[in-house]
Amino acid sequence: MQLTDQQIEKFEQDGYLFFPNAFSTEEVGVLKQAALDVYALQREEVWREKTGVARTAFAAHTYNDAFRRLGAHPRLIEPVMRLLDGPVYMHQYKVNAKAAFDGDVWQWHQDYGTWARDDLMPEPRAMNIAVFLDDVTAANGPLLFIPGSHKQGVVEAGHDLETTSYPLWTLDRETVTRLYDQGGCVAPTGDAGSMLMFSSLLVHASPPNISPMDRTIVYLSLCHVDNHIRQFKRPEWVAHRDFNPIEPLADDTLLELVA
Ligand code: SIN
Ligand code: MN
Repeated sequence: MQLTDQQIEKFEQDGYLFFPNAFSTEEVGVLKQAALDVYALQREEVWREKTGVARTAFAAHTYNDAFRRLGAHPRLIEPVMRLLDGPVYMHQYKVNAKAAFDGDVWQWHQDYGTWARDDLMPEPRAMNIAVFLDDVTAANGPLLFIPGSHKQGVVEAGHDLETTSYPLWTLDRETVTRLYDQGGCVAPTGDAGSMLMFSSLLVHASPPNISPMDRTIVYLSLCHVDNHIRQFKRPEWVAHRDFNPIEPLADDTLLELVA
């Protein structure tokens, strides 16, 4: 998939790009089943909400074949290689459940804030690309973005070890208000199969999901190979240490798994 000049300009301006229905119903079916399979595993990579339901499955590309294929999918890897201008490796891989009724908040943060402070990633030459495995609506805890906030560089943050089961460097209310006054707030919503790419400096959050609908999203956090992390404080399955460039697979790779 080639990005147009207009899309690149829009990404630079807003810090994100949305691609509705990038994956077909068959492809989403394969991935949704894979998500249910990994959430059923008792593994240290599968983190639970305080209520016990799955919150996120880290590194699922290392123990599930469908997620392995998605981790090298050309529709995800190629546009990121274009924007980061070169080969990329997988810094982090998450399948976030945001389960019906129980899916908990993600506080306001920048991903690069955590990658810089915890992993010593030299520069924000990294980004997320996500695939919706459920329809994402206003009701089921969509991501919230502050457009343009990626232009602020790394903003001040505090280490939140208490709010949720996952430690995160989060922004205080004054900072979020200041950024909101400049950029406003959007919630990109869309059908299962839609794809969302966003800068590692973009300020984002998501509210709890109190609806009866799951909101599963897979995130690939890709980093330019020259910009690999320098500190190995977090587990390997949270901040990966395989800095080899990802070789994109064939575009129909997921269709080989359709039953
Ligand atoms: C994240 O910010 O890394 C995840 C947020 C979400 O899945 O809602
Ligand atoms: Mn994040």
